[in-house]
Amino acid sequence: MICLGIESTAHTLGIGLVDGKRVLANERRLYKPKAGQGILPRAAADRHAEVFGEALASALAKSGVSLRDIDLHSFSRGPGIGQCLRVSCCAAKFLASKYRKPIVGVNHCQAHLEISSGLLSMRDPLYIYVSGANTQLIVKNKRKGGPLFSVLGETLDMGLGNLFDVFAREAKFGYPHGSEVAKLAEKGSYYPLPYTVKGMNFAFAGLLTSAVRSLSSHSREDACRSLLETSFSELCEASERALCLTGKREVIVCGGVAQNKRFCEMLTMMCEPHRARFGAVAPEFNADNGAMIAYAGIVEYARRGADPLRGLSPDGYWRIDQIF
Ligand code: FE2
Repeated sequence: MICLGIESTAHTLGIGLVDGKRVLANERRLYKPKAGQGILPRAAADRHAEVFGEALASALAKSGVSLRDIDLHSFSRGPGIGQCLRVSCCAAKFLASKYRKPIVGVNHCQAHLEISSGLLSMRDPLYIYVSGANTQLIVKNKRKGGPLFSVLGETLDMGLGNLFDVFAREAKFGYPHGSEVAKLAEKGSYYPLPYTVKGMNFAFAGLLTSAVRSLSSHSREDACRSLLETSFSELCEASERALCLTGKREVIVCGGVAQNKRFCEMLTMMCEPHRARFGAVAPEFNADNGAMIAYAGIVEYARRGADPLRGLSPDGYWRIDQIF
């Protein structure tokens, strides 16, 4: 089965083509806000719509697939920025109705999880999902009738990616913020900053305020190192607690921040004494992308069938533990 997946929850327009479990194409086009600015929803949505045709043509050319060969259409229905979500929803609904093919609206967070466990061949992992807006510890439920996923722990204020972005904006770094913080951190030394873990939940607001204030008395490199080490340690502690509670033998880190090498190194160390297998997919599948939407589209179509075209609309606040 060939599925076309369209992603547009935030700054990335992604077009992915997946045949079964094989990724045929994964085109990404990024909206970049001006230095010092966050995402402007209208500007991001306009940009996604503008480059959509070219990105789709490129994905089809690279995969050798024609629009008529596609068996299933999927799009990121939420969570995300409303105006951006409308782009993938409209495009997928148009293509599905024109070619009379089934359509599935998928949860963006679930898509990160599905492509990771699929490509890493892990059956029942503990997921550490770390992106700009979301930071959660998640497990997939086996029993039917309840939610498909449970969130065991999560951020009480902001996502890990947003923590780095806001810090980088305050410190007047260039774009992309997260990678700039990671680069500078490699040259820095650690000093203590506020650390907040409550059971399997964690918080970053106090850490952010202190890290920004500490820039007046510490170098940027040291501030970045300390910010990363502290926030990653919070995640490691909460994840280890979740690992002990669930008795899982596999751990996956996924989402945009999963591309950070130091974080993966720390999680590998956390997993070792528990003899848990640790894995993260290649960066192109951890960043927001269309292949993961196509991947999750196939999984969800097999599980619950197609969505009705009429009335299918984005849901900007769709949590992963609200999938039934
Ligand atoms: Fe994402």
